[in-house]
Amino acid sequence: MFPPDSFNKTPVMKKFAWGIIGPGGIASQFVADFQWINTHHCFVKAIYSHRKESAEEFAGKHAGAEVFTDIDAFVTHSGVQAVYIATPHSYHYKYAAICLKHKIPVLCEKPLTISYPQTQELIHLAQQYQTLLMEGMWVRYLPSFSKLIHLVEEGDIGDVISIKASMSYRAPKDENSRYYNPELGGGALLDLGIYTLFLSVLFMGRPDQVHASARKSAKGIDEHSVVLLSKKQQQYALLESSILVKTKNDAVISGCKGTITIHEPWNEKPKGISIEWNDGSTADIPCEWPGSGFQYETEAFLQTWESGQAECDRMPYQTSLLLAELADIIKNQIGVAYPAEGKV
Ligand SMILES: NC(=O)c1ccc[n+]([C@@H]2O[C@H](COP(=O)([O-])OP(=O)(O)OC[C@H]3O[C@@H](n4cnc5c(N)ncnc54)[C@H](OP(=O)(O)O)[C@@H]3O)[C@@H](O)[C@H]2O)c1
Repeated sequence: MFPPDSFNKTPVMKKFAWGIIGPGGIASQFVADFQWINTHHCFVKAIYSHRKESAEEFAGKHAGAEVFTDIDAFVTHSGVQAVYIATPHSYHYKYAAICLKHKIPVLCEKPLTISYPQTQELIHLAQQYQTLLMEGMWVRYLPSFSKLIHLVEEGDIGDVISIKASMSYRAPKDENSRYYNPELGGGALLDLGIYTLFLSVLFMGRPDQVHASARKSAKGIDEHSVVLLSKKQQQYALLESSILVKTKNDAVISGCKGTITIHEPWNEKPKGISIEWNDGSTADIPCEWPGSGFQYETEAFLQTWESGQAECDRMPYQTSLLLAELADIIKNQIGVAYPAEGKV
């Protein structure tokens, strides 16, 4: 007896052609995780950068990828099925808008834009052109977050009362770098604090009070920000972000029955998750997965794209809008404004 034809054949995965806009550090990590995607064979078809050198260097690692330094030529002739935007923040809006107007689906790094009006306008374009737009809030899709959300939703720690999170990285003090340059949307809040805001929004929704304070650089960006959010004087979030000092990057969610800690680095592959209940019992959950973890975000994007929706259920437009609104309130309180933020 011979086995049937399909026996022993590995299923053929559909190919998916990505365009990369902003071929820097995180774009390399995003692409490196293509190998762990189970649903599609993803590859880099085209790269756009403002400098030929950076696009060509990236292309050197991706055989057959075409290099563009003219964005109009990229959106018209590259033939990509979707783009991943990973430029400095202040260019997210410009490139996402032009791609959406050409009906090219967009996965854009966090923060989606540098202001609420820009985020609102991108969402409007996604709806108008019926084209997928997703903010690359990668933590939302990590197995650690799936576990955390499951634990909270199942009521393991009871009603959430307190969220404490810190995100920090000692960025090189270069006034021209994307961390410190206001022209590029520099500062701790939009780069790192956005994760802490997301954690708070995930479990608390819209706060009714926001109090923020920041230490600012000579050029007026926030090097270190602290934010207190509260809702109906029942729920509180204490959030800290810094590009100046290294704090302990843990996230702690406390409810009336117990506390969950996602250990450092909580927005990447954490050392683990611990739970301590009020009765003294404890549990430790390991966090292991292959690669960095971008594959989970990419799979969510591809799944949404396959379904024909313009909005991802797990990172809905309302969440991106709320993040942008809160970021604008905080920026206003701490006196941070970017030259590019009004331009829509
Ligand atoms: N999800 C995450 O875990 C994560 C982690 C880090 C960063 N990010 C986000 O990803 C974005 C990029 O961060 P990164 O650390 O990768 O920065 P990066 O290493 O500086 O890379 C930025 C890339 O964009 C290019 N670029 C700069 N200006 C451009 C323009 N006007 N048009 C087109 N390309 C331009 C740069 O080219 P040149 O080098 O030639 O200037 C470089 O290739 C940021 O928005 C950040 O928030 C996300």
